[in-house]
Amino acid sequence: MKMLLLLSVLTTLSLVVGVDRGNFKSCDQSGFCRRNRNMQPGESPYYLLMNNLKVSPTKIESRLANAKTGVLYTLEISALMDGMLRMKINEATPIRQRFEATEALNGEPKETSLKLVSQNSEGMTIEFGKNKAIIHANPFRLDVYSGDQHVISANTRGLMKFEHYRTKEQPKPENQEQEGPANQVEEEKPAAEVEDMDGAWEEHFKSHADSKPFGPSSVGMDFSFVGFKHVYGIPEHADAFSLKQTKGSTDPYRLYNLDVFQFEVNNPMALYGSVPFMVAHSDIKTVGLLWLNAAETWIDIEPATQQSVVSSIVDFVKGSTQLPQTDTHWFSESGIIDVFFLPGPGPKDVMKQNAILSGTTPLPPYFSIAYHQCRWNYNDQEDVRNVDANFDEHDIPYDVIWLDIEHTDGKKYFTWDNHKFPNPEEMINNVTAKGRKMVTIIDPHIKRDSGYHIHSEATSKGYYVKNKDGHDYDGWCWPGSSGYLDFVNPEVRDWWASKFGLDHYKGSTLQLFTWNDMNEPSVFNGPEVTMHKDAKHYGSWEHRDLHNMYGILMTMSTYKGHLQRSNGHLRSFLLSRAFFVGSQRYGAVWTGDNTADWDHLRITVPMLLSMSISGITFCGADVGGFFMNPDAELLVRWYQAGAFQPFFRAHSHLETKRREPWLFDAETKQLIRAAIQKRYSLLPYWYTLFMENEQNGMPPMRPLWMEFPSDQTTFDMDDEYMIGSSLLVHPVMESKATNVEVYFPGENQVWYDVDNYQKFNGLESSTIPVTMSKIPVFQRGGTIIAKRERMRRSSSLSHDDPYTLIVALDKTGQFANGNLYIDDGHTFQYKQGEYIYQGFSFKKDTLTNHALQGSEKFETKAWLEKVIIIGISTEPKTVQVESHDFGKKNLLFTYKSSTQLLIIRKPAVNIEAEWSIKLLF
Ligand SMILES: *[C@@H]1O[C@H](CO)[C@@H](O)[C@H](O)[C@H]1NC(C)=O
Repeated sequence: MKMLLLLSVLTTLSLVVGVDRGNFKSCDQSGFCRRNRNMQPGESPYYLLMNNLKVSPTKIESRLANAKTGVLYTLEISALMDGMLRMKINEATPIRQRFEATEALNGEPKETSLKLVSQNSEGMTIEFGKNKAIIHANPFRLDVYSGDQHVISANTRGLMKFEHYRTKEQPKPENQEQEGPANQVEEEKPAAEVEDMDGAWEEHFKSHADSKPFGPSSVGMDFSFVGFKHVYGIPEHADAFSLKQTKGSTDPYRLYNLDVFQFEVNNPMALYGSVPFMVAHSDIKTVGLLWLNAAETWIDIEPATQQSVVSSIVDFVKGSTQLPQTDTHWFSESGIIDVFFLPGPGPKDVMKQNAILSGTTPLPPYFSIAYHQCRWNYNDQEDVRNVDANFDEHDIPYDVIWLDIEHTDGKKYFTWDNHKFPNPEEMINNVTAKGRKMVTIIDPHIKRDSGYHIHSEATSKGYYVKNKDGHDYDGWCWPGSSGYLDFVNPEVRDWWASKFGLDHYKGSTLQLFTWNDMNEPSVFNGPEVTMHKDAKHYGSWEHRDLHNMYGILMTMSTYKGHLQRSNGHLRSFLLSRAFFVGSQRYGAVWTGDNTADWDHLRITVPMLLSMSISGITFCGADVGGFFMNPDAELLVRWYQAGAFQPFFRAHSHLETKRREPWLFDAETKQLIRAAIQKRYSLLPYWYTLFMENEQNGMPPMRPLWMEFPSDQTTFDMDDEYMIGSSLLVHPVMESKATNVEVYFPGENQVWYDVDNYQKFNGLESSTIPVTMSKIPVFQRGGTIIAKRERMRRSSSLSHDDPYTLIVALDKTGQFANGNLYIDDGHTFQYKQGEYIYQGFSFKKDTLTNHALQGSEKFETKAWLEKVIIIGISTEPKTVQVESHDFGKKNLLFTYKSSTQLLIIRKPAVNIEAEWSIKLLF
């Protein structure tokens, strides 16, 4: 939810009001952005001190020097698992420590062996895994190879900048003006120390002063992706999936976690989360780059000019000299240069490499991938009871009902409004009796109210962030005057975690889960609606150093609280608005306060894809749009899209009209019900994908090129995506649409419309007619998907329900494969082997199942109810099932030659038993 500004005006006039850009800095209004962006290429003063080289089995260490200032830096280049390379640059003798964002990583990355293969005065060549890198001494430059193909160059354009900490010289009064021209450097200063100091020591934005006691501290570098026209990632921005050129046209993409009121689509402005991770993809390679820095960061992108390619050492592909290239320029306000090069070579390799660095989403509890009903606010117990009952009344499945800030006593988190929610535990138990769950919101701003135990403890223990003068930071948020917990302090995180214990959080149960909102952090009266950069954290870090990590540190702590309250037995579910590298390890993320219009529906696809490929895989957007009122058509289309996105939650602003499905006409209600039911029928597939995501980093929602890497048509698609490797989705995202243009990727690939089994060929586009009930979804030929067709009130009630297998045969009509993962859905027992991971395969005329992994420790009663085989050209005479239990048995079936469809009824074998189904012709 979001800052409340004239919302009643907004909703009553139904005006579409965009973001107030004046509230947020442009690059021009930020000193370090100007200083870095205005640099000219080809003038790098940084060089490597070759005689300082230290070579160890896993890394090269040396020093860099700045020829202009004489300042020395440490350089560490180390080889990591899976062919990755890490480059770390820090000040050699800083007068003050520089912040490192290592807590974002999934532990310290393991180093592996690295070999120095050659060395001379101009540089050296190293080998690691199957890859190599060439380090040039003067100016310093690093060329990274994936295999023997040059893929990334660092500092080729010489835009490296590392502003060392220094003490402030006696300021001349006129130089304090932050807008002073860059060349106003004192005459007597030696030329070697001339640096652009524009905006270095103090800056103002609107009414806010940033005192910058430590002066300039920015770090920056350029990276060229050689051979790549397309780069992706660096969420969160409401922009196209394939990142746009910024240099010369807009501000750079900005990463600075902000509570942006009514964000607009198609621009590079910062939003709630920041993952400085980029993926470059071409038809022959995929590589990644992680710029691990938690300070405000900007990234410029420009297509390269041909001559910037270091052509002499590039292995030209197919003799081409027209190698495309994308030049990027990254700079952060403080911290160090800590860069990870992910060599691929394929998109799935990059996902796995990123997973090694930043971790993966732990397998979510089953209910959390089902449908969530949220609103600001469900007003009281009766409202909750009615909404819950209405889902049953109208036969619409749902799993979770959410309570926003109004459920608390005066916005004091972990408390309840005693008038509206006098019996919270009973309310929760009533909901969970139907297998459902509840979520309450718990934000990081703490009401400064001496009667509030969280506040009084935080105050007495010194757990709040401090302002620049050392007093508790006081900011304005929902409760009014608020303190902000300093989650940088591990002790605060432990203390906070303990507050989720059932003995602490009165009225909570193990079925109550958590929503961490406003954790950018949002400060209504702060600069850019967030915390002052000169606020102080534990360890005497400035807020500036770690701003983008505030949210992840909070969720780290909440996650721990969830695990602790059940002694590590039950899985956690939490939703966060702010995020950073690694936030996936703690739960789900959503795209924040969107608007009920078609642009915002359309932007969900590129936004969620950007998050997904950057590791933030359990992600979604508010269904229906948070601000304003969607009409029935938009709402239906949004449900249809949301049902096929990873995190599926409807949410709406306090001042919007109520929009539970039954408040609309019968047809609309039916369309929404049908969309939600489609989600429920595919939960087994989603769950399997999330398990695989935890294991190998592959995002459940993925771009087409992740499955079809060489298909260039897919490289800049914003309206179509895959769920796993088997389903292609093209949601209807235009008003009054009568058709959508769907592109089917893949050579020799066939696709089947999941509704009518119509067949399409890969590498072709088709115009698919759509009615209001149509969700264009296609199953890839050669795949098998397990579904559940019986509808229950909530997902947990379906635990033992039978499955239907949808077998979509490949182009030859002979083969298909698929997986199914099953466990108890809510504990960590799966880590003890208590799960079933089945493979299904169809070969020629026989469908079989086999165990892929796991043990005999988990059993299911679920059985196979139906098998649908698509793309089978002749009708079998007999269909026979064979199992250990009952030997052979003939099955009833129907065959439709028009759609080449075979429907086999009631094999009635246990889904995990060994069985086969044979077609006899
Ligand atoms: C719980 O359900 C019972 C039975 O329907 C009802 O009487 C009671 O009011 C409910 N309690 C709450 C807090 O909603």
